[in-house]
Amino acid sequence: MEKRETFASRLGFILISAGCAIGLGNVWRFPYITGKYGGAAFVLIYLCFLVILGIPIMVMEFSVGRASQKSAARSFHVLEPKGTKWHLTSYVAIAGNYLLMMFYTTVGGWMLAYIVKMASGTFTNLTPDEVGGVFNNMLANPGEMTFWMIVTVVVSFGVCSMGLRNGVERINKAMMSLLFVILIALCIRSVTLEGAGEGLKFYLVPDFGKMAENGIGEAVYAAMGQSFFTLSLGIGAMAIFGSYISKERRLTGECINICVLDTTVALLSGLVIFPACFAFGVDPGEGPGLVFVTLPNVFNQMPGGRLWGSLFFVFMSFAALSTVIAVFENIISFAIDLWGWSRKKAILVNLVVILVLSMPCVLGFNVLSSIQPLGAGTTIQDLEDFIISNNLLPIGSVLYLLFCTSRYGWGWKNFIAEADAGKGIQFPKWARFYVTYILPIIVIAILIISYIQKFA
Ligand code: PHE
Repeated sequence: MEKRETFASRLGFILISAGCAIGLGNVWRFPYITGKYGGAAFVLIYLCFLVILGIPIMVMEFSVGRASQKSAARSFHVLEPKGTKWHLTSYVAIAGNYLLMMFYTTVGGWMLAYIVKMASGTFTNLTPDEVGGVFNNMLANPGEMTFWMIVTVVVSFGVCSMGLRNGVERINKAMMSLLFVILIALCIRSVTLEGAGEGLKFYLVPDFGKMAENGIGEAVYAAMGQSFFTLSLGIGAMAIFGSYISKERRLTGECINICVLDTTVALLSGLVIFPACFAFGVDPGEGPGLVFVTLPNVFNQMPGGRLWGSLFFVFMSFAALSTVIAVFENIISFAIDLWGWSRKKAILVNLVVILVLSMPCVLGFNVLSSIQPLGAGTTIQDLEDFIISNNLLPIGSVLYLLFCTSRYGWGWKNFIAEADAGKGIQFPKWARFYVTYILPIIVIAILIISYIQKFA
């Protein structure tokens, strides 16, 4: 068996974990659901959930990863008390990582396609309807979508094939740094547009009355779901990076850093999108089409819009690719841990597997569009997103929580010893009651509400 590689630096660890967290959830999902649920009021609730729900669960995932020195495919086997069945959690984690990639590679491909469309001037002089038509034509064209999906998958596995330090760590560090530079440039451009003020108000001044229009309950639920998704929690996607670090630093402080980076990118993405929408009279509550249908119109009206638009989709693509690379690293390590495969073999086999698994999502928009699994107008992608976001992430999170707090699992003492090994901020001891009894109830409540909402 090959020796287990570790990260070259603490910064590398933080940036790769942030790269896993920072993804379509921040730059695509966050802005459109914030638009839908009324702006700043929603953002406040979301921030609350990141702190009370996100950070503790992230500390637990990293602890399990670091203590076991394994991916989620084996970590529970290593740490569970003899004779118990906690290792069944590994199936949730493995399924979750594959399922996420089944639709993520397609959306990542859309981002890459849009860099080319923007840069080559596809949208120049088009009416808003025609801009929407470009997106719909892409969805209707399985060849084009398959091509970009393949590019996403091949490039990302290519990075992984260069190794943990040389590929994953080095490339992610570069992409994350560039992502921040582009993001800041876009922010400055957007908030200095004439008429940006209205957008800033919508985004920064809470209006709970507006939120109530959609139902406060639904907004709260959406905020909870978003906090799991954006921090990549529940399926061991983060845990793997815990297994690549030393015991020099306590984990709570590292999680706070990662969470702050993730939140900064989400908040700044909103700061790019909302002022621009308001400046050019475009509806920010557009939904999933926001960045593909609405924003090209915004760039069309902006001087130098082709350049800014291309930069915007480069930024989006970096966010998506850094997540795909991180999750592929996880998927590769499953095979290495389970069957002792070489990295190369794990990559080659998974390359084929992921390409095949990504096809239903691609075809769901065209050839297979008659399959509408969650009701009229829904796609295979919606089903995959539902299974992962509304089921596997919360279920996995509860399992991690219970494993770390229950004396029938790994237990509080072991968890705290691992989380607090090293220097830095300690996991607060007073939080034991909260994470043991209250937090699981909150998460289980989310799950139940989500079912009622979906099927009642
Ligand atoms: N956090 C990622 C994003 O915001 C999505 C993700 C979820 C990644 C779960 C891994 C695990 O896009």
